[in-house]
Amino acid sequence: MRILCIGDVTSPKGVEHLRQNLWRVRKENGIDFCIVNAENAALITGASVNDAETLLSSGADCLTGGNHTLRNRSVYTYLDDSEYMLRPINFGEGTPGHGYTVLDCNGYKIMVINAMGNINIEPVLDSPYSYIDRVLEREAGKYDFAVLDIHAEATGEKAAIGYAYDGKISVIFGTHTHVPTCDEIILPRGTGYISDIGMCGESGGVLGMNPELVVKAQRSRMPIRFEAASGAPRATGVIFELNESTGKVTSIKRIAF
Ligand SMILES: [Fe+2]
Repeated sequence: MRILCIGDVTSPKGVEHLRQNLWRVRKENGIDFCIVNAENAALITGASVNDAETLLSSGADCLTGGNHTLRNRSVYTYLDDSEYMLRPINFGEGTPGHGYTVLDCNGYKIMVINAMGNINIEPVLDSPYSYIDRVLEREAGKYDFAVLDIHAEATGEKAAIGYAYDGKISVIFGTHTHVPTCDEIILPRGTGYISDIGMCGESGGVLGMNPELVVKAQRSRMPIRFEAASGAPRATGVIFELNESTGKVTSIKRIAF
């Protein structure tokens, strides 16, 4: 089974890029299941219902989120109702939406979990470990493979989570920094891990944003409204291949398009 994971969609043009290319990339790479982190699809104000529907009809099977997902209030009801769009599981009580889902794929049940780290990232949520532990315990026997999107700033935090769930979660990929890392590894008990899978949006900027505005904000420390960069849209992601009978990852390949 091949699972494609695409990094944070950073703008409407990122959504459009996937609308135009994701089915083709799926077909060319024999992808069975695709997860897209959509948290910034509406340009740092979360993702709209329209963004979600567009991505889900363009080749994404499941959308994950992060620290910006809940900035868009119009998506709250959708998050409550949809089993295909997640927000981090370790948000507090009363938060709209769900932090995990179990979806069918080629006769197998894939549990996708979305969690947020709590080192150098706002809002500061509870530690993700106990939330992930509880879900694995509660859903035991009801899924064939688990996949975790750990949305976090610190690579050390993400790498530790990789080792903590090695052999329990088949695929663990990091998101949030928008910068793809080249540390993909099959851990000792068979979990495929990478610290960050990058982004999908305009190139030529600072994490997808207009570099002049980011420099101005950093120099002045004033609140400045960011805009998307102006380069050609580009997506980065990772394909994990796993053995269906063992749940172990057999190969990991970084891709860009
Ligand atoms: Fe984020």
